[in-house]
Amino acid sequence: MLIAPQRRHLLSLALGAGMAPAFARGLFGSREPCFGLGVASGCPRPDRLVIWTRLDPDAQPERVVAVKWEVAADDRFRRIVQSGTAPAEAQWGHSVHVQVSGLEPAHWYWYRFTAMGQVSPTGRTRTAPAAGSLDPVSFAIASCQRWDHGHYAAWRHLADESPDAVLFLGDYIYEYAPVPGGVRLHEGLTDTRTLAQYRARYAQYKRDPDLQRAHASAPWIVTWDDHEVQNDYAGRQSQFMSPAFLGRRARAYQAWWENMPLPPSTRPRGPNLQVFDRFAWGSLARFHVLDNRQYRDAPVCPPPGRASGNFVGIDRCPELLEPTRTLLGAGQERWLNQGLSAGGVRWNFIAQQTLMAPLTWRQGGERVWTDGWSGYPGARARVLDTLAGLRVANPVVLSGDLHTHVACDLRRRPDGPAIATEFCGTSISSRAGSQAALDAALPWNPHVHYARRDARGYVAFRLTPQRLDVRMRVISDATDPAATVKTAATFHVEAGRAGAIRG
Ligand SMILES: [Fe+2]
Repeated sequence: MLIAPQRRHLLSLALGAGMAPAFARGLFGSREPCFGLGVASGCPRPDRLVIWTRLDPDAQPERVVAVKWEVAADDRFRRIVQSGTAPAEAQWGHSVHVQVSGLEPAHWYWYRFTAMGQVSPTGRTRTAPAAGSLDPVSFAIASCQRWDHGHYAAWRHLADESPDAVLFLGDYIYEYAPVPGGVRLHEGLTDTRTLAQYRARYAQYKRDPDLQRAHASAPWIVTWDDHEVQNDYAGRQSQFMSPAFLGRRARAYQAWWENMPLPPSTRPRGPNLQVFDRFAWGSLARFHVLDNRQYRDAPVCPPPGRASGNFVGIDRCPELLEPTRTLLGAGQERWLNQGLSAGGVRWNFIAQQTLMAPLTWRQGGERVWTDGWSGYPGARARVLDTLAGLRVANPVVLSGDLHTHVACDLRRRPDGPAIATEFCGTSISSRAGSQAALDAALPWNPHVHYARRDARGYVAFRLTPQRLDVRMRVISDATDPAATVKTAATFHVEAGRAGAIRG
């Protein structure tokens, strides 16, 4: 029996944190399905991928549970190609991460788990094509699924499109305390700080059937942004400059790892977790997935008494232009440059969390928001110099964070040619600021062809050697779980010519 999220919350509020587990055990006992958090897959390679599940804490699993897993070439599991058993351990949140190897390239597979006398839902996943393949690929980007801001109709529609892969670009959970009066209510009583609190927050999000459907429909490639830990954190620094922040970061990173379809080898050690990674899709595309949170320098010119992002007048913050400041960290920058210089693919996607293009606001002068790349213009210039200097094949930047659909060109100088194209996806459910304020800023940003933040959704892509087709998908109403979907705008990019073209 699944408990509706609202009912769970009322139970925990009514009973208090200490009494809830015993009560829940007596009331629901073993009837609670142990696979209530769904299944997922990720990290697709030509010969292997990762399958994931996490036993629902409400099912009261033992300290260690043996979980059987099966991967089949058909959805009825008549042709099982791999199987085995993996432990779900309490110390890792009863998560199961299986690296399944020996698979065929460019094949669909189905997978499921068995534990505690129950069988999980079936997930569908796909390996990447082998080097040499130029077969088309369809994929989608999504980000920012704040629970209390909306339902996940966008995920259901994305799953219905059956993409070959999903790239999640950050803000899988929001750490905030429950706020009465929203579309839904965050679980718990405070913001997430302890490992148990982060785990409970992931469990709440993962019980959503539309999110589960999206995970079960395709392999995901994931990175994170700030809210998986704390709003606007930068490297080792909390926006509130809390001295104990690194411990909180370690707990948040562990919970994120436990809940993502990542290989066992990436298990975090203390406050460190390598998220940046590269995925080739045949010889058609390479996805360079970045982490611009863990290694970034602290923001400059923050608001008084804080260390968060800020709207800053460029002329009033000369520190902003300090060329050595980093968003990726030196090691990741080197790694990115090596990957971009590797060649051998027609398209290069840089998938990461925050808008790379400058977005200039005019409110009593020229202002930028410092929590993204505009707060680190030297770091942005280095990436763009690399793209231009190495003549990287068809570079396209993919972004999230802004809760805004954006199609824009990346230029080294405002009057220079486009050297790359950027598409930023609006949020799955998180609210955004006013469209009118954004519209007023657009005349100052001629490289931005499209920017809409008045609807939730995702971006769907189809890629061939010659062309990238882009559909900005929006749902009718994030407060309605049955919302419909439509395409708000289409763009394309032609191979050999950087820049987003409408239509
Ligand atoms: Fe967000």
